[in-house]
Amino acid sequence: MTILTDTYTLNNGVKIPKIGFGTWQIPDGEVAYDSVRMALDAGYRHIDTAYVYGNECSVGRAIRESGIDRDEIFVTSKLPAEVKKADEVLPHFEKTMENLGLDRLDLYLIHAPWPWAHAGMMRMDEENLAVWNEMEKIYHSGRVRAIGVSNFDNLDLKNILHRAEVTPAVNQIQYYVGATEPRNRTCAQSHGLLIEAYSPLATGGLLDSPKLKAMAEKYGVSTVQLAIRFCLQNGVLPLPKATHREHIEANAQVDFTISDADMDKLNAFDDPNPDNHNPSQR
Ligand SMILES: NC(=O)c1ccc[n+]([C@@H]2O[C@H](COP(=O)([O-])OP(=O)(O)OC[C@H]3O[C@@H](n4cnc5c(N)ncnc54)[C@H](OP(=O)(O)O)[C@@H]3O)[C@@H](O)[C@H]2O)c1
Repeated sequence: MTILTDTYTLNNGVKIPKIGFGTWQIPDGEVAYDSVRMALDAGYRHIDTAYVYGNECSVGRAIRESGIDRDEIFVTSKLPAEVKKADEVLPHFEKTMENLGLDRLDLYLIHAPWPWAHAGMMRMDEENLAVWNEMEKIYHSGRVRAIGVSNFDNLDLKNILHRAEVTPAVNQIQYYVGATEPRNRTCAQSHGLLIEAYSPLATGGLLDSPKLKAMAEKYGVSTVQLAIRFCLQNGVLPLPKATHREHIEANAQVDFTISDADMDKLNAFDDPNPDNHNPSQR
């Protein structure tokens, strides 16, 4: 078993490969198709996409044409953040399934608790509960193996936890060395949710950190590999995105151990990009 097939277990018993391949900002068409095929060829078995990424068609085609048994690949997609009416949830799910060309999804997430134009600036508790109740119906239909949320802060999450039947399986949040949303993360983990780390490389912003580079050299790895390993050792699931084969392959080479002392240092790191967050990402 490699790190790409090693799994976490979600709160409903479903196994999820410990590293996911991110696809945000990978253009639909050849680039998305080739990137996902390269990732699958390199051994990744977990692909993260979303309706709003606009690349579900190519991502799905790459999965279908990979020759790999569907049951071996964990596929996540997301309900657009702008969808806050109950009767719009199922039609969006159907569209995602049509785009992907799959008859079953492994994980379906509410992309955010607010439309992006109001990120972190409004509460939509009643709307999110109504949307979640529709997600529960899809889950009970058996067409998705787990459901969860993304970008939820602790209050958004408690709104669902206290009033819904199904506990979300994951909260996918922005998480990288120096920016780990301690309040939201702790709340989610204390209720049994897995944290998925989006932008684990700070969308490339971590690459040139001199402090990270110095520590990475000590282990004979790259800054990126250190940043991915940091997530794993904190029990979090990283979703690195890459389009270059050498990046895709290197990001799976994280079979080393960061010492406890260095994990303490990394967990106390300053945010390399403090202006890059909305108010709820703390
Ligand atoms: N739920 C949400 O709201 C949300 C928000 C943001 C992201 N996400 C998810 O999280 C995933 C990852 O986040 P992200 O897209 O922000 O990016 P990221 O993984 O933090 O960083 C990606 C960048 O790092 C570069 N890179 C990757 N591996 C590298 C390596 N070994 N050496 C040098 N450079 C390397 C990539 O370059 P190349 O592409 O040129 O290879 C790309 O420019 C997304 O794709 C998406 O699936 C979710």
